[in-house]
Amino acid sequence: MTTTMPVRWTAAAMPDQTGRLALITGANSGLGLESARALVARGATVLLGCRSLAKAEAARRELLASGGGDLEGIELDLANLESVQAAAGLLRERYGRLDLLLANAGVMAPPRRLTRQGFELQFGVNHLGHYLLTRLLLPLLQAQPGARVVQVTSGAQYFGRLHFDDLNAERGYDRWAAYGQSKLANVAFALDLQRRLTAAGSGVWSLAAHPGLARTNLQPASVAASGARLEALAYRLMHPLFQSAAMGALPQLFAATAAEAEPGGHYGPGRFGGLNGWPAPARVAPAALDPAQGARLWEVSEGLCRGALPGLELPQP
Ligand SMILES: NC(=O)c1ccc[n+]([C@@H]2O[C@H](COP(=O)([O-])OP(=O)(O)OC[C@H]3O[C@@H](n4cnc5c(N)ncnc54)[C@H](OP(=O)(O)O)[C@@H]3O)[C@@H](O)[C@H]2O)c1
Repeated sequence: MTTTMPVRWTAAAMPDQTGRLALITGANSGLGLESARALVARGATVLLGCRSLAKAEAARRELLASGGGDLEGIELDLANLESVQAAAGLLRERYGRLDLLLANAGVMAPPRRLTRQGFELQFGVNHLGHYLLTRLLLPLLQAQPGARVVQVTSGAQYFGRLHFDDLNAERGYDRWAAYGQSKLANVAFALDLQRRLTAAGSGVWSLAAHPGLARTNLQPASVAASGARLEALAYRLMHPLFQSAAMGALPQLFAATAAEAEPGGHYGPGRFGGLNGWPAPARVAPAALDPAQGARLWEVSEGLCRGALPGLELPQP
């Protein structure tokens, strides 16, 4: 498929989203909040997936104050696969449909921590929680024409490696290596899912996007958790390269809605090697392009979810 990219794709260029239902994870902050603001402004009903209903309600109020729209909160803690399963069940029962899943939530480079089921936090939240959520919501997406699922990755994919022999970093934890692994997993999963959807003749599109460098709570939260003062200094020095959260959200909004996007597409800011600028097709880390690695990640992730949630039923594409 050949596509002509618009020179400047802004949220105002987003096709009308009236009648579409979107779930955004991590919707109370940064790129998730800005994505919700843009989607609801174009008429979508947006489900704000947040760690607590209180956070979702605070985000809803903020969005209502700045224009509003159809917004509802959903409790979703990606560090707990039971919470992911419950959120997917609630969505099935309460809404029975879904047009867009924006797998946006993330945590970056904390000291070693574990999820409720004992997975390394970044692998667990950034990849495994979203993997399970996506798998569980596939039937709803497949029932809707034009449905899309977008995994939010990062430039950290380029230095990431999938350590299949130690995905939970039990043999040694490097918080940046673990972040890179989780963000590589995001894009590898997105591409593998698209292969499977294509093979199954499904109309759902799976895509990935990264924001470049965007001013959100990601870096402050990382510095606060790790106490890394050198990193705080580096972020201050890099300040001019950082773009607003609203700009940073554009690649994922492009992937989620633009007519010019493609199934299996990967988008990021188009300037300074992908650090900032308007959405453009972005280079994928070579490791994520390997179908064998993608398929292996799928199988391993499925096994981990089944091990953590006995009796789990996982829909196939
Ligand atoms: N900002 C950047 O420069 C940058 C660069 C590359 C990639 N990214 C990616 O962009 C995405 C969004 O991050 P952001 O920059 O918008 O950062 P942010 O402002 O810190 O937002 C992250 C969101 O993820 C949520 N989250 C964290 N752990 C969660 C969990 N266990 N369950 C559910 N939600 C959880 C946070 O909730 P709480 O508020 O409750 O913590 C928050 O809503 C991430 O995937 C990140 O890796 C960002």
